[in-house]
Formats: sequence, C-alpha cells, structure tokens
Amino acid sequence: MTAESAELLRWYDSHARVLPWRVGPAERAAGMRPDPYRVWLSEVMLQQTTVAAVKAYFLRFTELWPNVAALAGAEDDVVMGEWAGLGYYARARNLLACARIVVRNHGGRFPDTREGLLTLPGVGDYTAAAIAAIAFDRPETVVDGNVERVMARFHAVSTPLPKAKAELTALAAGLTSGVRPGDYAQAVMDLGATICTPRNPACGLCPWRDPCRARALGIAAELPRKAAK
Ligand code: ADE
Repeated sequence: MTAESAELLRWYDSHARVLPWRVGPAERAAGMRPDPYRVWLSEVMLQQTTVAAVKAYFLRFTELWPNVAALAGAEDDVVMGEWAGLGYYARARNLLACARIVVRNHGGRFPDTREGLLTLPGVGDYTAAAIAAIAFDRPETVVDGNVERVMARFHAVSTPLPKAKAELTALAAGLTSGVRPGDYAQAVMDLGATICTPRNPACGLCPWRDPCRARALGIAAELPRKAAK
C-alpha cells in the first residue's frame, strides 16, 4: 500500500457516503461483508444513472426481490415495469438473464473473480472490476469517469481524453491498494463525487491535497482536458 492509498482510506473512514447498497467502513471493520447480489444490482443500476436517481430503485428492487433467486423467479414484465424510469432497458433484460444464469449455472452464487464476473450478461470491464473489488475484496482497479478525473489531476496528465484513457488506467492501477481494496475502490469514487468534482474542486478538503500535482500547479479545475469535438 502506498502512503497515498493509506491517506485516502483514512479519509474514507470518516467521510464515506452512506448509501443503501454500501457496507460502510466501520461495519466492514466489524466484519460485515457486502452481499454480492446487492453490489451487483447497484453497479448495474449505476452504469448510466446517477447515485441520487438509483437510491429509490435499489430500495424498491431489494424489497421486492431480496436475493438473486427471488429476482430470477420474477416475471419479466414486472421487472421491466419496476425498471421504468431508469432507462437503457437492455440493462433490465441483462439483469434478469444474469440473475437466471447465476441461479441455474452457478448455484445462486456470483463468481468471485473479475474474469468470472465478465462472463455474465450486462457485466463489462467496469462492473466486473467494481463487483470483484467491493463484494470480494479483490485488488482490482475500478476506472470510471470520476476516477479518470481524479487521476488526471493527481498526476497532472494534460493529454486529452479519450487519448489519455490507457495512461490514466495505468496510473489508477499504480495507486490501487492491496489492503482493503473494496473500501479503496469506493473511496476513490467518493473522492471524485464529493471533493474532486468536475467544477470547483474542494482541494482544501482533499486527502490528496499535498501529493496532487495539478493542485501544486494550480490547474486542477482545468483537468482532465477533452479533445475538441
Ligand atoms: N458509482 C458506481 N458505482 C458506485 C458505487 N458503488 N458507489 C458510489 N458511486 C458509484
């Protein structure tokens, strides 16, 4: 673990967002484990939808279908009806197909590696890494737009997106913690969502304010650069 990842985990211990699908750092330290079903469901819902919009849907789905077997046995039309409003309906179809495969082919248990998770419908690179890290504490690097922004600033990468993607992914991998990887993945997400925001980043409150190169250069708000359209 690097000094930077230790610093971020320390910040997460007192600043983690409370989210309905999350096992917070204190609960985690007390030995609670995230339920892979709930992690998977939340990550699929969050693929193209904001945290604020997902919350109510997540609570409704887990009330109706508290586990993967219940969801796998649901009527297609009922699930599609409950999904209404979240958009991108292919996600809902894949959600049901995935639940049924987990029940029929995996004995009702989600695969516990990134590679295993990638075989499931609707689970791409990002989602597989997120579930492997959060649900199974695998040291996978989770990279979405938020994480790209944090990395571009931390390392002052001025190459524009999307060209910089591979470089930012490699930099994110270099910082990923082998200690508490699930908490680390969620900590970077929270940093990007609450401190290292696209506009007006709250650098003074950032646990990475000292090592951040963009902050030292006074260019945090200008990064990441985007290729002209
Ligand atoms: N965005 C995608 N996955 C997330 C998660 N697990 N927590 C918060 N925001 C997210």
